[in-house]
Amino acid sequence: MDIQDIKNRFGIIGNSPLLNRAIDVAWQVAPTDISVLIQGESGSGKEVFSHIIHQLSARKHGPFIAVNCGAIPEGTIDSELFGHEKGSFTGAHEARKGYFEVVDSGTIFLDEVGELPLGTQARLLRVLETGEYIRVGSSKVQKTNVRVVAATNVDVYEAVKKGRFREDLYYRLNTVPLRIPSLRERKEDINLLFRKFIVDFSDKYRSPGVQLTPDAQETLMKYSWPGNVRQLKNIAEQIAVLEKERVVDSPILSKYLPIEQPVSSLPVFVKDAGKEDFSERDLLYKVLFDMKKDMVDLKKLVVELIKEGVSPGTYEQNSPYINQLYKEVKPSAGYLGEESTHPTLTIHNPNQGSKGNDYMSYDDQEAEEIEESLSLVEKESDLIKKALKKHKGKRKAAARELGISERTLYRKIKDLNLD
Ligand SMILES: Nc1ncnc2c1ncn2[C@@H]1O[C@H](COP(=O)(O)OP(=O)(O)O)[C@@H](O)[C@H]1O
Ligand SMILES: [Mg+2]
Repeated sequence: MDIQDIKNRFGIIGNSPLLNRAIDVAWQVAPTDISVLIQGESGSGKEVFSHIIHQLSARKHGPFIAVNCGAIPEGTIDSELFGHEKGSFTGAHEARKGYFEVVDSGTIFLDEVGELPLGTQARLLRVLETGEYIRVGSSKVQKTNVRVVAATNVDVYEAVKKGRFREDLYYRLNTVPLRIPSLRERKEDINLLFRKFIVDFSDKYRSPGVQLTPDAQETLMKYSWPGNVRQLKNIAEQIAVLEKERVVDSPILSKYLPIEQPVSSLPVFVKDAGKEDFSERDLLYKVLFDMKKDMVDLKKLVVELIKEGVSPGTYEQNSPYINQLYKEVKPSAGYLGEESTHPTLTIHNPNQGSKGNDYMSYDDQEAEEIEESLSLVEKESDLIKKALKKHKGKRKAAARELGISERTLYRKIKDLNLD
């Protein structure tokens, strides 16, 4: 067996030195029982490598389970991994085996291992060092023989420095580090991969296939591929299905590539000794939080204005800001202060005995739209529903689209009763 055999067997495309090096490491470490920590960006092939390690090991006839640690709610993760006894918590009507019990004599792939809560990390360290674990709600120590392959797309050592990941566990998992290169680091493989995917998908969808012009190939190479091979595969699939032209040049190709986010357009927090630096998720929360605060302020403002019984004309003269806001909320309709070629926004003063509590009416339907656009919760659940629908209920994909972690999505689905 040589490296090409491995590539053929596991469908790995590419010849770049970094990729070959990764395959070499996986191949060498596979037959040992050593824990491996696979590091690489999302979509770079970490899961593929976990299969290589299992299949080329003596455990290949044993079970293999891939667990996405980021997708399991904190409250149930111990029970998922280590099992629980009947009645150990509300809803535990039956005893249940955990993955470490089920996978005895096999391999467990712990994806997004950096997301594990600290308590679970302690249990994991124990099972790694002694093979011992305890079901939730039990006191009986059980034994298992499981090989752990873990993966992360973030720098876990950063989490160690911040106290969010146990240092001892980090070293235990990282006995052999395996780094999967991003697509940017192996540009020479991009065209090869694209051609292979186009052939596969044209076959699958019985479409005639496409050819890239040299400038399109260059565009492909220059693109940053934040989603790595997964993204490239995805775009090849779209082109195979949708593209009418048989020869694809750079402008055509560019239509399929999401616009690259220049780094400078993202909010930047200057790292400062002693100050917390924000993860992407923290940032997202902060943005949402600020938005919510703005919304609350706005509502207050509107209520106050209503209380004061100011007529719309007053806004027109005094507050271009309000006009602007209204324009933003409802860009397709006219806004306060515009000539009466459209229904006028009227603000009823409840103190002056206007109908019901219908404070704002544009006409009934419009009023509803205004109401809706002010509800962050509704917008949120709406977006989540849309994302889930778009991805046919696949939470992983939906979460990625929404830019939140699977765990956050899971929680929101529960909180918002979207099940
Ligand atoms: N070198 C490669 N050659 C061909 N396909 C690959 C390669 N690396 C990854 N893939 C494919 O890309 C997709 C993402 O890989 P995956 O292992 O799930 O990434 P990760 O776990 O790092 O997010 C999968 O469909 C996988 O088959
Ligand atoms: Mg993955």
